[in-house]
Amino acid sequence: MSQQVRGVIAPGRNEPVRVETITVPDPGPGEAVVRVQACGVCHTDLHYKQGGITDEFPFLLGHEAAGVVEQVGPGVEEVAPGDFVVLNWRAVCGQCRACRRGRPWYCFQTHNASQKMTLGDGTELSPALGIGAFAEKTLVAAGQCTKVDPKAAPQVAGLLGCGVMAGIGAAINTGNVTRGDTVAVIGCGGVGNGAVAGARLAGAARIIAVDVDPRKLEWAAGLGATHVVNARETDPVEAIRELTGGFGADVVVEAVGRPETYRQAFYARDLAGTVVLVGVPTPEMTLELPLLDVFGRGGALKSSWYGDCLPSRDFPMLIDLYLQGRLDLEAFVSETIALDDIEAAFQRMHDGEVLRSVVML
Ligand SMILES: NC(=O)c1ccc[n+]([C@@H]2O[C@H](COP(=O)([O-])OP(=O)(O)OC[C@H]3O[C@@H](n4cnc5c(N)ncnc54)[C@H](O)[C@@H]3O)[C@@H](O)[C@H]2O)c1
Ligand SMILES: [Zn+2]
Ligand SMILES: [Zn+2]
Repeated sequence: MSQQVRGVIAPGRNEPVRVETITVPDPGPGEAVVRVQACGVCHTDLHYKQGGITDEFPFLLGHEAAGVVEQVGPGVEEVAPGDFVVLNWRAVCGQCRACRRGRPWYCFQTHNASQKMTLGDGTELSPALGIGAFAEKTLVAAGQCTKVDPKAAPQVAGLLGCGVMAGIGAAINTGNVTRGDTVAVIGCGGVGNGAVAGARLAGAARIIAVDVDPRKLEWAAGLGATHVVNARETDPVEAIRELTGGFGADVVVEAVGRPETYRQAFYARDLAGTVVLVGVPTPEMTLELPLLDVFGRGGALKSSWYGDCLPSRDFPMLIDLYLQGRLDLEAFVSETIALDDIEAAFQRMHDGEVLRSVVML
């Protein structure tokens, strides 16, 4: 029997989101229905609503979630009803060219549910990042459910499903930050502050947080930044160089997704350093750089999809570190809200008032 639940829909480009009754089918082979307990509001949800990702409206938003598996379809062995899980958007296939070469964190054919959730009139919904978790229940591929220690509260665990994992992984997995490195993070929202926390976990000696909002910088200092730079008041490239003996940082994480901040990241790194782009640009953005500088400064210019994470490896490990008091995930939860408050939460994110608003269901 399919089920009717409440979910948050983005009906069309830049139209306000609304809560609608959606139909969630019973899980088919390889699928699971999850009762969502908490789902964070990520900037990527706003990108979807603005039409910046694809045109496949209507979207069922929400993708940073934790909950309990309610039902599994035929052949599902990795999870069972009652399991506490974080939802991931990288259910690796094991078969594609990346998986076969032992790099499943790049998997090019990640699994999603094959059936569609629908509106009352049968209109098919596009779930954000194949998840769609601003809903009481959602249908996903079983591989999108990663079991973690149920001692972690859902509003905290769910953060690993997207932004915080993307940030931690941008520093640790993509940037390979290690003991003694100098690291700068440009843009300290949920993602950038994840990178700050990741750099601290990895043993970075100096962590420079850059933002245009003093509140974000205060949070960054709490999460491990050793220095903060307000880019509205100070040129961030100059400031980062000054704080690194005139050289620039070993790793610079760009967590805004704009050409001007990418350029800052590019020039704020040391020779042979690494830039990690984890912020997501929009289709009209372009970048111009002197090719001689790209060559002459050496090093690596990398992009980080989802922090190059492997959910089955990284989620349980990070939850364990959290439970041991070594990773302050609670600091990311600025407020908990209801399903009807998402439009207001987008505004608060835009106004810089929150690291994460988390919807409780
Ligand atoms: N690569 C991935 O897998 C992945 C995953 C999740 C989110 N993202 C992307 O990461 C980016 C950040 O997401 P978020 O949820 O943290 O968003 P957010 O809106 O919470 O944070 C963005 C931060 O950038 C700051 N900022 C804006 N302009 C700036 C400037 N000129 N200089 C310095 N700081 C500036 C803002 O004040 C804010 O603190 C978004 O583009 C989002 O789509 C990427
Ligand atoms: Zn694969
Ligand atoms: Zn996200």
